[in-house]
Amino acid sequence: MIKLKYFDKVRAAQKSQRPLSEMPPFDIERLRTNGLASRIVGFFFNDPRWALALLRRFKPNLGFGNFLLVTRNADVRDILERGDEFETPYGPEMAELARGSNFILGMQDGAAYRQMKSSVLSAFPPAEVEAKVRPIAARHSRDIMMAASPGFDAIAGLLKILPVHICRDYFGLEIDDESEFADWAIALSALFFSDPTAKPVTRELAVVGGDRLIKVIDRSIDAIREKGQKDQPLARLVALLDQGRLSRPDIHSIMLGMIAGFVPTNVLAGGNCLDVILSRPDARQAIDAALAENDTAKLDRAIMEAMRFKPIWVGPWRYASRDATIARGTRRERLVKAGTVVMPATLSAMFDPDAVQNPNDFDTTRPHRDYLVFGHGIHLCIGAEIARIQIGESLRALFGKEKLRRASGRAGRLSNIGAYPESLKVDFEQPAFCHTVDQSM
Ligand code: HEM
Repeated sequence: MIKLKYFDKVRAAQKSQRPLSEMPPFDIERLRTNGLASRIVGFFFNDPRWALALLRRFKPNLGFGNFLLVTRNADVRDILERGDEFETPYGPEMAELARGSNFILGMQDGAAYRQMKSSVLSAFPPAEVEAKVRPIAARHSRDIMMAASPGFDAIAGLLKILPVHICRDYFGLEIDDESEFADWAIALSALFFSDPTAKPVTRELAVVGGDRLIKVIDRSIDAIREKGQKDQPLARLVALLDQGRLSRPDIHSIMLGMIAGFVPTNVLAGGNCLDVILSRPDARQAIDAALAENDTAKLDRAIMEAMRFKPIWVGPWRYASRDATIARGTRRERLVKAGTVVMPATLSAMFDPDAVQNPNDFDTTRPHRDYLVFGHGIHLCIGAEIARIQIGESLRALFGKEKLRRASGRAGRLSNIGAYPESLKVDFEQPAFCHTVDQSM
């Protein structure tokens, strides 16, 4: 019988944890799964909308083992609004990797949550993102695409690298190798969000990757002190540390959370979004029209709609902390036993015809309420502004290339390592002068 890791397996793994010095060196390749079972799972998760439509209709709440998948829009929203009964389960591992301090996404509402959230929002104010992050994202995307040739890997060369540039230029982190930094962050995210059965390899990678990231954070704190930096997010956290309002584990926790919330999530969201745009003529047309008109609001709406078709996950994880009833008063009313791991399937909810008009149409004029891409309830994503701008500028630079299309064959298909996009190669026409440069080289 299936038994998901919250929380017995998490506790057992934490107890039998080997010291860091005995763990194999970091190698993201260990996240790769090639067996038949993983290919079947991969096929299902590539576009599970048809299966979710069947469940919504015939078995809206599907339980097996200690797991419950909830598919109707009303129930998904309800669960995400009842945070005291349906807790986020990420806390024990988030606190462990930050060596003692939990992160907001791993906390339930209360004084500690509100205090840390206010520190995070004061260090990373969404209101400054447009002015500060847009120029960084635009410049690096342009530079990367200027140097690109046909056969360019849009994931490894752009969507994975740009978030790291933003971690360096905006967050204020001292980063040596962009790809390696992104891989450490991916390892962390894999443990928190895509390791329901507690695989030892996923844990080992996250522990080693987390240690490397903490070293980067500590080195960056020293550099900020030396340079007297003041107006970057990490510098603001250091100021709170100096005033005694945050501890060093708090800073580790906030920075690990913001790095793991950013880099892997945007690789996933941006990669999936690109895959949708290159697969659906209606999505491609919406992107091309927004870019031709140089209309950023239109571009954002097209991206949001593309993300609805292939969001980062089927849904977030929740844990029933006590017995709770869902869908009360309906035919699907159900008692959820304490200890059940619940997945409110936000992907399914965004295609539920009871709540979303013509859900299968690609429609960029939808009301904001139709979107659960960034979650719902108190844990609603606080990085949505950064994500919007980073993905928008990446796609603007990418589709700035003439006749951009998938490379032929396997290279042009989206491939993953674990749950995260790894490669999708694209071809495009080079302007005539580039051919000359190629020849003279
Ligand atoms: C397109 C990219 C992104 C998507 C699709 C996304 C999605 C989400 C979702 C669904 C949640 C809720 C998780 C849950 O309820 O279990 C969430 C929360 C969160 N996200 Fe994002 N995210 C993205 C980018 C970012 C970025 C760029 C950052 C940081 C720079 C970030 C930081 C966070 C944080 C800190 C939370 C927790 C908020 C809280 O607990 O109050 N995310 N995100």
